[in-house]
Amino acid sequence: MSQPGSVEADPVVYLNGEWGPLSEARIPVLDRGFIFGDGVYEVVPLYATPGGRAPFRLAAHLARLSRSLGKIRIDNPLDDAGWRSLIARAIDANQGEGDALVYIQVTRGVAKKRGHAFPAGLTPTVFMMVTPLTFPSDASRAKGASAVTAEDKRWLHCDIKSVSLLGNVLMAQHAVEHDALETIQLRDGLLTEGSSSNVWVVKDGRLAGAPRGPRILEGIRYRLVEELAAESGVAFEERDITEAELRAADEIMISSATKEVMPITLLDGKPVGTGRPGAVYAALYEAYQRAKARELHEWSERGPGAPK
Ligand code: PDD
Repeated sequence: MSQPGSVEADPVVYLNGEWGPLSEARIPVLDRGFIFGDGVYEVVPLYATPGGRAPFRLAAHLARLSRSLGKIRIDNPLDDAGWRSLIARAIDANQGEGDALVYIQVTRGVAKKRGHAFPAGLTPTVFMMVTPLTFPSDASRAKGASAVTAEDKRWLHCDIKSVSLLGNVLMAQHAVEHDALETIQLRDGLLTEGSSSNVWVVKDGRLAGAPRGPRILEGIRYRLVEELAAESGVAFEERDITEAELRAADEIMISSATKEVMPITLLDGKPVGTGRPGAVYAALYEAYQRAKARELHEWSERGPGAPK
């Protein structure tokens, strides 16, 4: 049986300075996040370690949160030390077995009436929860996943990790309805990204990802994949990738906080390359596990004040 306060039951969440059960957390309907999708969020993976759960690449997640807030002109309600101590407390309040994630959301706050432009003097709404997370199993990794393609119809500020996720939600649903793990989007004949992941293609041993910029969210794993490729001796290119290149790829993979790196072996019902996870995926996955082990070890030595 799950204990109250464990992530499996009713997690203890943070909302505007208060801690309490998720089932009792409430926001007013005039919160700008509810009424306009006017806010940003972060998803930080938490890995089970002997000393408790530890975040991975937290500094990069906090830096992206700060950038997203800046781009929509919300003052960051906390500094990095403040975020780190809230996250540490959320982890402590939700001890349990297994891996998890920290979800953080900041909205512009609660307005007095509905009106599109920013009202003056709002206090941002800050919400944080820890929820359990199961990473893809070894069996699903050995097989690889299927993906479908679709036209990217989102706005051109995809670099902001905004809670206005309708375009992404529709693409995720499109994948579900086609028995696929992910929808891979194309804009003007060029690869952009998944509904909630970055996408990578391999041709002749070279790894390529779509250019960072307003058409994609720069995943925390974007930089990480670049580092892992360097460590593994895999050539890395950040460049436009055409639909034809996507379809002719030897390997395709996706990356995200919740999938790490995951091979795509079927695209629109056709095998990708040999139809099996490839050598570049295998090298990057191994390197990912090594990077994780190194950082989680550092976390257990230094705790939440650690710079990573
Ligand atoms: N999504 N692109 C989009 C549109 C995303 O939503 C995500 C992650 C990524 C990968 O970013 P990262 O490596 O930082 O997870 C790329 C998270 C997991 C989510 O919305 O739940």
